[in-house]
Amino acid sequence: MPITHYQSTSLILEQEEEKLYFKIIDQRLLPHKLEYVTIQNTEACIYAIKEMVVRGAPLIGIVGALGLVIGIWEQKELTAAQIWVNHNAPLIENIRPTAINLRWSVQSILDVVKNEKNWENYRQAALRTILHLIEQEEKRCFQIGKWGLELIKKIAAQKSGEPVQILTHCNAGALACLKWGTATAPIYMAYQNNIPIHVWVSETRPKNQGYLTAWELTQARIPHTVIVDNAAGYLIQEGKVDVVLVGSDRVTRNGDVANKIGTYLKALAAKAHGIPFYVALPSSTFDFTLKDGKQIPIETRREQEVTHIVGLYEGETCQVQLTESLAYNPAFDITPSHLVTALITERGICQPTSESIAALFPEYFENPLHNFILKL
Ligand code: MRU
Repeated sequence: MPITHYQSTSLILEQEEEKLYFKIIDQRLLPHKLEYVTIQNTEACIYAIKEMVVRGAPLIGIVGALGLVIGIWEQKELTAAQIWVNHNAPLIENIRPTAINLRWSVQSILDVVKNEKNWENYRQAALRTILHLIEQEEKRCFQIGKWGLELIKKIAAQKSGEPVQILTHCNAGALACLKWGTATAPIYMAYQNNIPIHVWVSETRPKNQGYLTAWELTQARIPHTVIVDNAAGYLIQEGKVDVVLVGSDRVTRNGDVANKIGTYLKALAAKAHGIPFYVALPSSTFDFTLKDGKQIPIETRREQEVTHIVGLYEGETCQVQLTESLAYNPAFDITPSHLVTALITERGICQPTSESIAALFPEYFENPLHNFILKL
């Protein structure tokens, strides 16, 4: 019988004697098929992150760190593990460059194991740390939900029973973030509190993460409608959106927000029409080492994600070609802080300014690497 260390819909971490492994949903097959793949070694972990078998900033952070921990467990003695970690930690950190989460989770593990001088303590510390990171991320998402719920309640109070119309982009739900999700946590809580809501889910070309959000909302029976990305401006202009609520891959000291490509356009439309634009993020998503969004590296992915599309044909997942032209595929954009109404974090809601962020997270402002220092 394996020992199960952790279980959620998107991740199951198990141990069989000396071997650690985990199961994850193959997100490439959703929303058509729900299938888990078993990840047994670091190479498989790296492949899963690169090819977006798993995706979503918090989840890739956790999966990358699991890749490190599984690799450590395979080494069998301290010196080999230290050499292996020195070589592999930087590789894992850089698989996907925009979200801060891979760096955050890998650095958190390195910070804990660096003082361990005994093999058993070293590998157990690595395992304990990843479990701690998972637990903390879940708690943060839950808290984000509570704060975000208050914002939705306020909007609902002005709607005399009509559903609050929420527009979201990409997938910042349980698939991307283990349990509650970031942007979806307030949505789930509003629904549980019987607040009438309806969610506009933008498709999020080229990888269509919006369909993952739609899949999650379907499971939770939350009313929603999918739109193409280009429809968002029109809906906002027509007064069909009360609030835009998105997640984030990295937020800098001044409150600039990196998120899935297309977020910036929604923020522009929201600003032009006086609609609130909220970003939900756990503190692990802040990068206090960066002054502003211009310093965030933007991942460019392969052209094929634009020129081809994957769907279901007669019950089978297949890929078709859309164009033979060259394509350009920046995967993220930066929404400047002046377009953001507020940031919803686990500690509360703050303005997207360094003063307001510093007031909520003073210790991080003093020590920009505080994110990576764990108290276990
Ligand atoms: O490229 P992906 O699908 O891994 O994108 C990351 C994201 O999930 C999003 O940008 C999301 O909105 C923020 S993560 C909670």
